[in-house]
This record gives sequence, structure tokens and C-alpha cells, in this order.
Amino acid sequence: MFETVDTPAVLIDQEIAERNIQRYQAYCDKHGIALRPHIKTHKTREFARQQVMAGAMGITCQKISEAQVMADAGLDDILITYNILGSDKLKRLRALADRTKLSVTADNRFVVEGLSRTFAAAPKPLTVLVECDSGARRCGVTTPAEAMELAQIIVEAAGLSFGGLMTYPAVGGTEKVETWMREALALCADAGIDCGTVSSGGSPDMWSAHLAPVVTEYRVGTYIYNDRSLVAGGVCRWQDCALTVLATVVSTPAPDRAVIDAGSKILTSDLLGLKGHGHVLGRDDLSILSLSEEHGCVTSSEGATRLTVGDRVRIVPNHCCVVSNMMDRVNLHRGDNLEGPRKVAARGCVI
Ligand SMILES: Cc1ncc(COP(=O)(O)O)c(C=O)c1O
Repeated sequence: MFETVDTPAVLIDQEIAERNIQRYQAYCDKHGIALRPHIKTHKTREFARQQVMAGAMGITCQKISEAQVMADAGLDDILITYNILGSDKLKRLRALADRTKLSVTADNRFVVEGLSRTFAAAPKPLTVLVECDSGARRCGVTTPAEAMELAQIIVEAAGLSFGGLMTYPAVGGTEKVETWMREALALCADAGIDCGTVSSGGSPDMWSAHLAPVVTEYRVGTYIYNDRSLVAGGVCRWQDCALTVLATVVSTPAPDRAVIDAGSKILTSDLLGLKGHGHVLGRDDLSILSLSEEHGCVTSSEGATRLTVGDRVRIVPNHCCVVSNMMDRVNLHRGDNLEGPRKVAARGCVI
């Protein structure tokens, strides 16, 4: 299996990734939702361009450094969904805004003040959306009234333009997004504030995005590759998973235990609530029960693993986005045909 690729390696089936891009774009087009994919899943310039060429209105990044890579690659409508703080980052944000269409989110007054100071003398205002916590309990103002108050502060701030509301909901939170955002929109309307965009996201609920018609824009990341967590959630099937980890059996110390050369440095230790560290394609009986950095221990529900030293296995990881961040290059293929390596240009971009 892909004998010329040394292991451990990340494989990306281009055909599946392209099908995933097209399928969700068609869904968004059908429901009149603007799609703004999050590049954190693939972190490659080429897939970002493909997403936009397929009809996405722009992209989402989490970090300025990711956005810099994407702007260098010609992506020209970028939303950074992160509170940006500190003079170094603000300087880089300003420089980036001078060369691409940029918007950011903020959930507190301190962040808005920093953005305003940075953009007060800029040739064009920076678009800022208010991040709202509609139930995921991460960042975000926690009530619609606070959303309206922060929107008002942005409207009045020098150098800024209010862009609307953004949320990253809890899994299963579509209905809550609708009620939360409707209430915030009504409060903003009463205060004479126009909310241009209402942005929501998340692959686990991507097929119910249309059930929150208040949402004008949807951000998905994982959908391009899919992973074990989304198969477990009923969002997709194994044959929709574009990213797999190719590993070699390096030891069979006992009939009921095999060791592969993929450990936490490639599969990561992200469980996402699942048992085990990935699904071995074609072998439902196998479990990757434990990992150390460079070893994965495989057992079988049947007792004997029936694996031999030198065997190769393909694994769908629990969470594909974090796996993308582990390797400088991924190996593209279409079905059985290997196409070659691709640089993961925005890997390691955490600043
Ligand atoms: C702010 C934000 N938007 C969108 C996404 C995309 O979510 P998913 O990968 O579930 O599609 C993420 C994922 O972490 C996120 O943090």
C-alpha cells in the first residue's frame, strides 16, 4: 500500500476532499448561506484556493500567522476568529489589513480598544464582529444584551466598522443559535445598529445549518477531510474521510498485541470523547488502545491481531485538524494512485 511513501505519513485522498468541498458548497448554495471555510483543518494554500474557487466567499483563520500564509497565497477575504491582543500582533494585523480584506472578532472592550488604537489612522476601517457565546462556553459575550453593548462600542470606535455577530456553537446547538442571535439582532435593531453578518459554524451540525435561518454565513473546517469523531456523530461515512495516517507494524510482541510506528506525534492524543486513537480502515476489530510518542499499541476484539511485522495499516484519526498540524508535508493520492507531497504551509502557525 503506497510502498514509496515512508511511514508514518499523512495521506490525503484528493478525490474525497474535493467531493466534500463540492457537496457542502452545494448545500450552502441551496439554502442561501454564505460559506467561509476554516483553513485550520488542511492548512494548505491549494485547498484554500479550491474552496474559494468552488464558491466560498472567503476563508476563516484562527491566527494572524495563518492569515499571513493565506494572504501570501492570494486569498483576499479573511476572517480571523480570535481576540487579538498585544502590540506585536496588532502591528502585524494592521500590516495584513493593508494588503487584504480582513475582519476579526472580539468579545470584550479591551480588545476593541486595542484594535481601535491600531486602526484609528488606517486608510480603511477594520471590520469587527462581536463573538457571542451561544452555549459552547469558550469565548464570547454571554448575553444578547452584552452583544448589543459591545456592538455599540465598536460602532463608536475610531478606525473600526461593525461587521455583525459571530458564534462557534456547542455541538447540537443550532436551535440555541437561532434564539440567541434573534434576540441580539432585535436589541441591536432597537439601538439603531445594523448587523450585517451573522456567522456560525462547526462540522458536527453542518447539515442542520439551514435550521437557524438567522445565520447568513457558516464556517466549517473539518468537513473537508472528515474524521472518526464525525463518523461517530453520524455526520459522514468512512468513505468520506479524506485524511488517513499510514503506519507500519514494527513489532508483534504477543499474538494479541501489535505495535505501529504512529504514536501521539502523528495521531495526537485528542480523544474527542472516543475510546482509542483512531479507526483502522477495513479492520473493525482493531483498536489503537494506547499511544506513546512514536508507538501505537493495537489490540483486537477477536484476541489475535493477525498483524505481521511489516504490514501497513491506514488509520482515520479521531480529529483530523490536529493531525494536519503534526507534519510538514502530506501525501496526496486519488484512490490507489499516488500524486505526490504537498506542503502544509500554515502548519505550526500559532502566533
Ligand atoms: C471559531 C471557529 N469556527 C469554525 C470552526 C470550524 O469547526 P469544524 O472544524 O467543526 O468545522 C472552528 C473549529 O475549531 C472554530 O474554532
